[in-house]
Amino acid sequence: MKTIFSGIQPSGTLTLGNYLGAMKNFVEVQEDHECYFCVVDQHAITVSQNRLELRNNIKSLSALYIASGIDPNKSTLFIQSEVPAHAQLGWMMQCVSYIGELERMTQFKDKSDGKESVSSALLTYPPLMAADILLYKTDIVPVGEDQKQHLELTRDLAERFNRKYNDVFTIPEVKIAKVGARIMSLSEPTKKMSKSNPNPKSYVSMLDDEKQITKKIKSAVTDSDNEVRFDVENKPGVSNLLTIYSLCSGLKITELEEKYKGSGYGPFKTDVAEAVVNVLKPIQDRYYQLIDSEELNDILDKGAEKANMASYKTLKKAEKAMGLGRKRS
Ligand code: TYM
Repeated sequence: MKTIFSGIQPSGTLTLGNYLGAMKNFVEVQEDHECYFCVVDQHAITVSQNRLELRNNIKSLSALYIASGIDPNKSTLFIQSEVPAHAQLGWMMQCVSYIGELERMTQFKDKSDGKESVSSALLTYPPLMAADILLYKTDIVPVGEDQKQHLELTRDLAERFNRKYNDVFTIPEVKIAKVGARIMSLSEPTKKMSKSNPNPKSYVSMLDDEKQITKKIKSAVTDSDNEVRFDVENKPGVSNLLTIYSLCSGLKITELEEKYKGSGYGPFKTDVAEAVVNVLKPIQDRYYQLIDSEELNDILDKGAEKANMASYKTLKKAEKAMGLGRKRS
């Protein structure tokens, strides 16, 4: 059975983009793969975090994974900082990374652009991400489009390590969904929907209630020609809503274009909002049952135990290949 690994940062309430671009796909692949899903809290502290908010976000993200359908009997769900091998291998992967290649990462450029005090960890974030993946001999990494460059670097680092030291790492493949890999902002549909955007109208949070969702979808920026047609270049707002609607309803984009021919944006937006509510409402109900339960703690304890066992083996192999520590007879 092939192994899958993916992670999400607990850096704010997840958006519909995180759900449609990542989490929804995790639920599907767990049926026939060995899966590890991680709350990557060590990645979140590459930018300043409030201590209490971070703790809440870690718990909230863990509950959202389960509420969205991650089944702890099929998948291993755990918190990155509870598995020390991530930071240990992360350091070793930094030692095989070049500053130049890290500086070329577009996310580093975007996040550091114009800022005076940028943490060095923002630069060395991709080697930690590589460690996350490589520790589990991962074959496939399902992510949204924005992580593609980090995955390419992970492959380069793994190949470089294997060449220079020993054949320790499996080279992972990236898996990006054909539809939904880049859900766009509702207020600026040429930018991706992001949980770090200061304007809450730009995204639907996975915990927004029906009223908020409807209001945000209805005020989503579209265009003035009133035609429901998929055309990313000329109609980015409408195309984004069509993608969201299609993924939430299971209907094809062509079917939706046909359905709303001549009807304008009003009824279309009402139905998009309804489809989003239908997807998020059951997730939210389960989330509120879970969030303060012992069940969630048990799941995370078991997940950490399993992840610690699996990752330790690869860590030791990598240390041996590099010559760290002592030889035991
Ligand atoms: P993060 O936390 O920013 O996002 C989590 C996942 O959601 C996807 N995503 C989107 N997909 C579609 N449309 C959007 N608007 C959108 N916004 C986010 C992301 O592509 C991602 O799959 N570096 C990673 C976390 C990470 C990781 C890993 C991922 C750390 N280690 C190892 C995979 C494997 C990140 O910041 O994702």
